[in-house]
Amino acid sequence: GCGDDLIVVSNRAPCIHSHTPDGVIAQRPAGGLVTALEAVLAKEGGCWIAHGSGDADRDTCDEHDHVRKEHLDAPYRLRRLWLGEDEVAGYYEGLSNEGLWPLCHRTDVEPTFRDADWEHYVRVNRRFAEAVVAEAATARPVVLVQDYHLALVPQMVRERLPDAVIVLFWHIPFPAPQRLARLPWREQVMAGLLASTVVGLQTPADRDNFKLARGACALGAGAAHVDAYPISIAWPGRQELPAPGLGDDVRRRFGIAPGVRLLVGVDRMDYTKGIPERLQAFELLLELRPELLGQVSLLQIGAPCRGALPAYQEISRQVKAMTARINARFGTDTWQPVVLHAASANAATVTDCYRASDVCLVTSLHDGMNLVAKEFVAARNNLRGVLVLSRQAGAAAELEQALLVEPRDIGGIARAIGRALDMPPQEQTDRMRAMRAVVSQNTVFGWAARLLGDGMRIAAGRTARP
Ligand code: G6P
Repeated sequence: GCGDDLIVVSNRAPCIHSHTPDGVIAQRPAGGLVTALEAVLAKEGGCWIAHGSGDADRDTCDEHDHVRKEHLDAPYRLRRLWLGEDEVAGYYEGLSNEGLWPLCHRTDVEPTFRDADWEHYVRVNRRFAEAVVAEAATARPVVLVQDYHLALVPQMVRERLPDAVIVLFWHIPFPAPQRLARLPWREQVMAGLLASTVVGLQTPADRDNFKLARGACALGAGAAHVDAYPISIAWPGRQELPAPGLGDDVRRRFGIAPGVRLLVGVDRMDYTKGIPERLQAFELLLELRPELLGQVSLLQIGAPCRGALPAYQEISRQVKAMTARINARFGTDTWQPVVLHAASANAATVTDCYRASDVCLVTSLHDGMNLVAKEFVAARNNLRGVLVLSRQAGAAAELEQALLVEPRDIGGIARAIGRALDMPPQEQTDRMRAMRAVVSQNTVFGWAARLLGDGMRIAAGRTARP
């Protein structure tokens, strides 16, 4: 293992502390990155460096910016880094989320690039790299750099710790070279990434795009090993079957009558997730099959995110307006077709929703992996329930037994939801069993072992050379 000197660095922290009238509370943010990495560090130990954003984050740290033991019930260290308002606006909101995020995802939102944002991005990447150097216990730490916020960190760490094992994992899709060409700083970004020992992408398609981009780059000569490492989740240990009352219980919590069949969607409120298309498809299904009126509801959990950005304010407004419109059109005193929970939900609640539902809807327009799809499968130990899954999510490459849909094909999604609701129990079981075999055999621990193993093996081979 590499537990002694393993350093994970990401923008988002696994745990956010906030002040409440009852004292400080700790919350885990929504999003696949944290879900996956938390499981790995909880097992391996090591140090996690991330931006501190909660209003009690400073108060829970010691003088070295490490979260104090009584506030972190975990076997790893969490080192926080503080960003100023202008750094957050330029590096996180601007370059990362108005630039790179829409550059890498095929949706209707186009990227915006500003020179000032890039300057913040470079400076903040430098600050993360310095924190890595400060936390390294040896000259050869194993550094696992996460995602598009930190593309320059591998090169910046390499300059200071030439023998470090540096593994960068890119959690989101990687664009084809023609699209990457729109990024004014593509050469710097590629050079930053290629200083890694290993660059990991989600799918073979992302890997191929990255290799083409490398070939098209003037500075693409870095020695990095590049491959696909599809991320996953921790497979749950022995689990009870869902209690008989769970279904009614979950329905009651969200104001849904007992006996109503349940479709569930769990997403960050993001324009990449295809939530409006999903609502449209459900509306179309209710038009086509009026016998379903009063019989089925869509419970949509939409965790707020990146709320400072206009594109996110817009998607949130749009989803709320569509929900209101569909409910006004079809709803009755006792039944609402769409139940929107526009707030985050904790992991236990989300698992209960997965287990209480008939169908889980993942209709991303474009998505790196999508761990909701894998979490749903992991939660269904009763071997029932149907997954409707976008072909444009990385998970579709592994979960072939889902009902695969094209996320812009509203009619196709409506038909898939109808088919899911009609699916005979035996077919549900056959499909679920096949998907559970895939996910249980490809967990996030296997992902980490392969990624870090390749990094250490390759680094050892390099220093061994004369
Ligand atoms: C995606 C990204 C992660 C990010 C997460 C949540 O999964 O790949 O890097 O942490 O979204 O977004 P946020 O901006 O709230 O961290």
